[in-house]
Amino acid sequence: MASRKRTLLKVIVLGDSGVGKTSLMNQYVNKKFSQQYKATIGADFLTKELLIDEKLVTLQIWDTAGQERFQSLGGAFYRGADCCVLVYDVNVGRTFETMDNWHDEFLKHASPSDPTKFPFILLGNKVDVDDGNSRAISEKKANDWCVSRSNIPYFETSAKNDYNVDDAFHSVAKIALHHE
Ligand code: GTP
Ligand code: MG
Repeated sequence: MASRKRTLLKVIVLGDSGVGKTSLMNQYVNKKFSQQYKATIGADFLTKELLIDEKLVTLQIWDTAGQERFQSLGGAFYRGADCCVLVYDVNVGRTFETMDNWHDEFLKHASPSDPTKFPFILLGNKVDVDDGNSRAISEKKANDWCVSRSNIPYFETSAKNDYNVDDAFHSVAKIALHHE
């Protein structure tokens, strides 16, 4: 029987409080969604196994606290990450304006060997919210930012409707594996 070496990929999910980081992970790993908001305190991870190019990989996805007062661990555990997932809420402009900050803070603490080549991915979450004019950040604006940050892949998602969640994390696994 062919033996398969298992690869562990460490992924860090960052973004402002309330954008849906925990919800996206919970939808992806447990296929569950809750309307109720419960702030993440500190950091914790979920794991998911998947096959990428016939390679068995374990994604270790770290959920983090968006609220500053709950960021007890600092950024020390960013070290050794293979991919950083940045999340904002397409309906709340300021959650997009902080993306530069999260991006730069991540690189500062993770200190990867080549910061210019470190893989990020951007998720614009809560695209299901559609009450006519709730959208604050256009797809084009998000894409332009991604291009300016050395072509970060961009996905629009809904943790609530399970829209694009699998595809987004599959892409995370692929680029993390490529980097690892
Ligand atoms: P912190 O842990 O404080 O950093 O927040 P978070 O980014 O983990 O946000 P969380 O996943 O807890 O979601 C915040 C709120 O938004 C919750 O009430 C969720 O039910 C809701 N929510 C998350 N994702 C979606 C989505 O795709 N659509 C809608 N409509 N609501 C969502
Ligand atoms: Mg959370």
